[in-house]
Amino acid sequence: MRIRYFGHSAFLVEVGGKRILFDPFLNGNPLSPVKAEEVEADAILLTHGHADHFGDAVAIAKRTGALIVANHEIATYCQNQGVENVHGMNHGGGYKFDFGYVKMTPAWHTSSIETPDGMLYGGHPGGFVLRADGVTMYNAGDTGLFRDMELIGELHPIDVALLPIGDNYTMGPVDAAHAVKMLKPRYVIPMHYNTFPVIEQDPDTFARLAAKEGAKCQVLAPGEEWTLETR
Ligand code: NI
Ligand code: MN
Repeated sequence: MRIRYFGHSAFLVEVGGKRILFDPFLNGNPLSPVKAEEVEADAILLTHGHADHFGDAVAIAKRTGALIVANHEIATYCQNQGVENVHGMNHGGGYKFDFGYVKMTPAWHTSSIETPDGMLYGGHPGGFVLRADGVTMYNAGDTGLFRDMELIGELHPIDVALLPIGDNYTMGPVDAAHAVKMLKPRYVIPMHYNTFPVIEQDPDTFARLAAKEGAKCQVLAPGEEWTLETR
């Protein structure tokens, strides 16, 4: 599994010959080294409707033909925007796609779609467990700490967890380290920090806290790529 970070919560995951894009906030993302016009994807997984996650999903899906996977409300919104391939899910449900198995997990956050005419209901926000090519990834999405992360870790032995550490809108480094303790991933990658002043954090502080909880922390700079070997 090859993981490329675009800053904030945007990742391109290549696994089993497929490209899976998470939360493609690219053109408005001050940290992203790529533009929406430059990425290729087979699937786009959206954790919630906020602009810093939904980003350029519709434009990328229309150009590449990628399948958008999101909660029912966001999937329907994308379809109404002219995206041909959408797949709606909801919390606790899993589905086997041609690129891997995806289960939608809950997240403690909010979700709305910001349009020029105001905010639309975006359903509940979520995260994803992705299992592909023998590797399990957990993307927590935007969330505060919640005890049921323990259950997610129990049901799905996690190779790599993507956790927000920015604080203010999501977990901060201390709570994210507590999430590591409950999820028990082999590796953890911090996200959702340093994009804006309000979420400035030192990822190395988090890395030290995560190490105490038994996970190797892989801090990725925007544009950086890392390969996780199959166990
Ligand atoms: Ni959000
Ligand atoms: Mn966010």
